[in-house]
Amino acid sequence: MTIYTFPHNFLWGAATAAYQIEGAWNADGKGESVWDRFSHTPGKIANGDTGDVACDHYHRYREDVAIMRALGLKAYRFSVSWPRILPDGRGLINQAGLDFYDRLVDALCAANIEPLITLHHWDYPQALYAADGWANRDNLGYFADFAAIVAKRLGDRIDKWTTFNEPGVIVWDGYIHGEHAPGEQDPRKGRQIAHNLMAAHGLAVQALRGVNPALQVGIVLNQWMADAADADPQSIRNAEEAWDSGETAFLHPIFKGYYHPALVARAGGLPEIQAGDMALIAQKLDFLGINFYSRNLYNAQGHVAEPPGAEYTATGWEICAPALRRMLNKINDAYAPPPIYITENGAAFDDVAGPDGRVDDPRRLDYLKNHFIQTRLAMQDGVDVRGYMVWSLLDNFEWAEGYTKRFGIVRVNYQTQQRTIKQSGKWYADVIQHNEVKA
Ligand code: FCB
Repeated sequence: MTIYTFPHNFLWGAATAAYQIEGAWNADGKGESVWDRFSHTPGKIANGDTGDVACDHYHRYREDVAIMRALGLKAYRFSVSWPRILPDGRGLINQAGLDFYDRLVDALCAANIEPLITLHHWDYPQALYAADGWANRDNLGYFADFAAIVAKRLGDRIDKWTTFNEPGVIVWDGYIHGEHAPGEQDPRKGRQIAHNLMAAHGLAVQALRGVNPALQVGIVLNQWMADAADADPQSIRNAEEAWDSGETAFLHPIFKGYYHPALVARAGGLPEIQAGDMALIAQKLDFLGINFYSRNLYNAQGHVAEPPGAEYTATGWEICAPALRRMLNKINDAYAPPPIYITENGAAFDDVAGPDGRVDDPRRLDYLKNHFIQTRLAMQDGVDVRGYMVWSLLDNFEWAEGYTKRFGIVRVNYQTQQRTIKQSGKWYADVIQHNEVKA
């Protein structure tokens, strides 16, 4: 048996996002988000599911914090719903919305669980979308205003702040492929929005530091490793080209201050860039959040759709933990980033629950174990990883897939809202308690 011990202050946690768990979609003055609108549009979400109730976390957050405590989590990453706080995305503040997050953060602090906050995890205010949304430069400052409002209220108890969750998914799925809210299919607009999101990120970083210069500020990027299938120089070139033209979209502007030429070529040119934008985008960050789920594989012919012998999760993503270690090293070598947190990693499987809700989920347990180990090995290689947020604390609303994909280490019975810690969750509690992984 090998024992992988983690540094004593390693931040073990779990993650969720507002729209995926809160429910209470129109409670207490909350405004509409693009996800409310999208999920209420027939044909957009599997089974016609919506986030109207979700895990009802808005009303059950105390129970959920108690579960986190039972798991021994040291940290919890959550996002705030912008239209819950600003129903129109700007202007009038809905105090009841801010109060909710205030109570949540108090409950976390009382349980000795460090809150990590994400300002925007996709539930953009519908009212701003109606005013041209992210495509309109004039709207970008509203994100910074929102950031400042939240920081003024919660900044006394939260150190670690991230602006966006996965800007790439907002762009690709929301504005290019159209499978996510708001469901547009306009690559040119998507290219501009990618840049505008980066500018909004920069403005929010300034706004947060304006409220309190001691806040730790970062962003959450999802990265899929691009691996070469063999040692053929053409396979290696293909993998490099795929990484450069796709995976550098946000890493490059943030850490180098320009867009990678391969990305620009693939996008058919640069977006409109205003004077000062790149410096705004490339402001120094205190940490980098990485979400990792899978990789893409390339041989001399190009993308390998079905790697021989590959195993997949229920979302059809190939399971390949060693790709995480390679990717962390790749990012570390190319960008010399600030300390890294794995802000999401986890897997959906078709869990089978016993009559008492008990779930034996050995594949999720193995998935997590192998990714923890590869992260530990990357740390030995010299990558400064400080913490790990498992996706997800709870089974929840998985965007276009509705409730069909379960990612939780805690099962949620959506009829009764009963929560049951899965075997993977119990195993994770043991990892946290001993601060080591045994394999
Ligand atoms: C990520 C999202 C998260 C969740 C996981 C499975 O892309 O950030 O909300 O849906 O995928």
